[in-house]
Amino acid sequence: MTVSHAHSHLADAVPPQRVSFTLNGEPRALMVRPFRRLLDVLRTDLALPGTKEGCGEGECGACSVLIDGEPVNACLVPVIQCEGSTIVTVEGLADHAALHPVQAAFVQHGGAQCGICTPGMVVTAAWMVDRKLDASAIREKLSGNICRCTGYSAIVASVAAALGDAKAPASDADGADA
Ligand code: FES
Ligand code: FES
Repeated sequence: MTVSHAHSHLADAVPPQRVSFTLNGEPRALMVRPFRRLLDVLRTDLALPGTKEGCGEGECGACSVLIDGEPVNACLVPVIQCEGSTIVTVEGLADHAALHPVQAAFVQHGGAQCGICTPGMVVTAAWMVDRKLDASAIREKLSGNICRCTGYSAIVASVAAALGDAKAPASDADGADA
């Protein structure tokens, strides 16, 4: 394994500690070096590679996860800071067989190209849907999520569609057993 980040040396110098949190609805407890990045712990220790690393510096949003319901850059969070919190990754959004409405909208509207930014975009967009934010806020709320590929129009269209769906009156999609 390569050590590509300077602060990893510091992270490795501190002995492991028990950290527990709720991850995608399941209680988890693990022994980890406390200053390791949540991003690495998720991808490596917890085998959830959906959360991506772009910049590693809090600039791109590829590593976005929800911590206690708010979007956070997992590359900036020491895992010890998550003690007792509730974490949702992109893997936690889909309801088993069914895609999350945001994921379905990204598929339908071509919101993903290379896919590096996509999980972070989807996590942030799912948060917007949760909060029932207005479609006019999409660009501002996604400003922390950088995409090198799409020029954003397809992403904004995807999120707008998901927000529209979220606001639509309950229909046969509500409570569907698919
Ligand atoms: S990898 Fe975390 S913000 Fe870019
Ligand atoms: S789809 Fe490639 S960075 Fe967004």
